[in-house]
Amino acid sequence: MQRKNQLKNDYIIGVKCMYNKMLIPSNIKQNDIFSETMSFLNKENDNDQLLKCFVEGKICSKYLYFNDEITNSYLKMIMSSSYSLLNDSHKLFLLYSNSIIEQVLTVQKPVRIICLGAGNAKKETAFIDKIVKNINYKPEVWLIDISSEMLRIGYENIMNTLEERINAIDLSIMQMDFHDLDNCETSFSEKCNVILLLGNTLGNFDDSFLHLLYSYINIGDFVVIDNQLKQYGKLSMLDENALLKIYDNEIYSSYMYSVLKQFDIVRTDGYIHTYISYESKYENSDCAVVNKDFIFTKDKQLSLGSNMFYAKNGFGLNLLVSKKYTLGCLRLMVSQHFDVINTFAENQYALITAQKKQI
Ligand SMILES: C[S@@+](CC[C@H](N)C(=O)[O-])C[C@H]1O[C@@H](n2cnc3c(N)ncnc32)[C@H](O)[C@@H]1O
Repeated sequence: MQRKNQLKNDYIIGVKCMYNKMLIPSNIKQNDIFSETMSFLNKENDNDQLLKCFVEGKICSKYLYFNDEITNSYLKMIMSSSYSLLNDSHKLFLLYSNSIIEQVLTVQKPVRIICLGAGNAKKETAFIDKIVKNINYKPEVWLIDISSEMLRIGYENIMNTLEERINAIDLSIMQMDFHDLDNCETSFSEKCNVILLLGNTLGNFDDSFLHLLYSYINIGDFVVIDNQLKQYGKLSMLDENALLKIYDNEIYSSYMYSVLKQFDIVRTDGYIHTYISYESKYENSDCAVVNKDFIFTKDKQLSLGSNMFYAKNGFGLNLLVSKKYTLGCLRLMVSQHFDVINTFAENQYALITAQKKQI
């Protein structure tokens, strides 16, 4: 308990002020919702975490979205014609969100919708809108993201969709690393928590992330996850090429270089290597992983906050992993911690609803 309070204090930097200062879109009047916005970032901790990433040769996912420039470069990339995954994920979610909501509303407790890695919150907003139309109380909604720019855009989408019904939700906007969720001033108790982890976000992590999610929430709470799928077995050369085409192109590279810019790494320092590997944790070769590594072609000294790091010629820094599971593997992974209730799958995407079970 003491540790939690200690961390809570360390984490709160400038509660409210940053939104009041820079994040309110011009067409939106400052109101009570923004005054409840919280930022939970720990700069000291970040410096050490960043150095650890470089020493281990693998960047944490949050650095893929951290500042406004990166966020905008990411959004430009996902809106480009080469990135087809966005449409698949939207289509699937809109088709099946009613069934998920029906399931959630069978629980006799008020709901708390937790949008983890909310991004532009388009799907999340559609979900909130439908929930609000089906209940006669004010649901709690937590919009959580590491990127303040994403939160701004997500908030704008919620405002534009709900309009005057914005007062029908009890909204908290939190800028934080969702790995720190249990350290902040939040309580998961009393309500039925519905965690939305959408947009292939799970695929950026290993499956220990599901364990973390499990540890946050209560028995009977829901998780709704969507992720890209693959067919059983190793991909054919044709399918590998089709997958690589989504990730290995100039617009994706521009996004990756905007990520590298925060560490003062530029194009002339090396090159980005995009490749597919396979993991077979649950069934043979059941996960295809798209990797993007930056390979240094010269020695370079980097200042990482208060730390220095020497990258040698040939050093490889893993920037991104994006995992694609078979439907069977995804279900199996989720069912290690949760009871899978619904599985919807179309083409390349799956949407799973599950409830925390006692194990
Ligand atoms: C792939 S996008 C998905 C966005 C949205 N949910 C959707 O379905 O389109 C992942 C989102 O998670 C956020 N994110 C990634 N790692 C995070 C972390 N460690 N903590 C908080 N947010 C994170 C990113 O900023 C980004 O908005």
